[in-house]
Amino acid sequence: MQQYIIGNWKMNGTKAEAQKLATGFLSRIQKANRPLPHIVLCPSYPYLVPVIEILKDSPIEVGGQDAHFEKSGAFTGDVSVTQLADVGCKYVIVGHSERRHYHQESSSIIRKKIEASMKLGLRPILCIGESIEERKAGKALNVVASQLISDLPDSFTPHDLLIAYEPLWAIGSGHVPTLEEVEEIMGLMKHELSARISGSALVPTLYGGSVNAQNAPDLLALPHVDGLLVGGVSLKLDEFWEVINASQR
Ligand code: 13P
Repeated sequence: MQQYIIGNWKMNGTKAEAQKLATGFLSRIQKANRPLPHIVLCPSYPYLVPVIEILKDSPIEVGGQDAHFEKSGAFTGDVSVTQLADVGCKYVIVGHSERRHYHQESSSIIRKKIEASMKLGLRPILCIGESIEERKAGKALNVVASQLISDLPDSFTPHDLLIAYEPLWAIGSGHVPTLEEVEEIMGLMKHELSARISGSALVPTLYGGSVNAQNAPDLLALPHVDGLLVGGVSLKLDEFWEVINASQR
């Protein structure tokens, strides 16, 4: 499977910086002389349209960082999956731990967001992962397995969505699980997925949390890692480009 390198810009930058980054990635893509992975950039809402404009004729796709599951209505401050699709987004991050933590997002809301996105052909990137307390208590595998059960809709195909394993303690911390720990969780995810729906081991499974140019090659070489979800480093043109070039498939 062609790997995915997804940049989550979070709540960072200005319009000018977003445009400069998008233009920078576009020119690197145009000069690239090797097969590239799927590349997806997820800017803040106000910069989606300017970034989509720059990347419209390129293979780089754009995604939202979250979305409301209703099509429209009195939800001040929210943006719907329908609106994201309308402006040309192809992906949307759902259930990021920062949304679960700061906005008290529950599994039932996350599931509705996934279902609403899938209906529109917008591919959700579901984020799951354990806290440091859960990891220390030896519960990481159980937490991830139960998040898969509670967050995923009853039916989906491998092309409908992606799943990113982002241990909470690895996000923005500089701490990354060992390669064995990553592979153990990714293997479990593939196993749980295929036990639920046949063929769903083909759902792309990504790793996220303190990814950088140094650790990306080893992470991307793991058999069950189908890509990376990158935060801080995705705002750095040169280093993110190195991560993209570390893709193996
Ligand atoms: P960092 O790469 O900055 O640790 O962030 C990971 C993340 O949360 C991506 O969604």
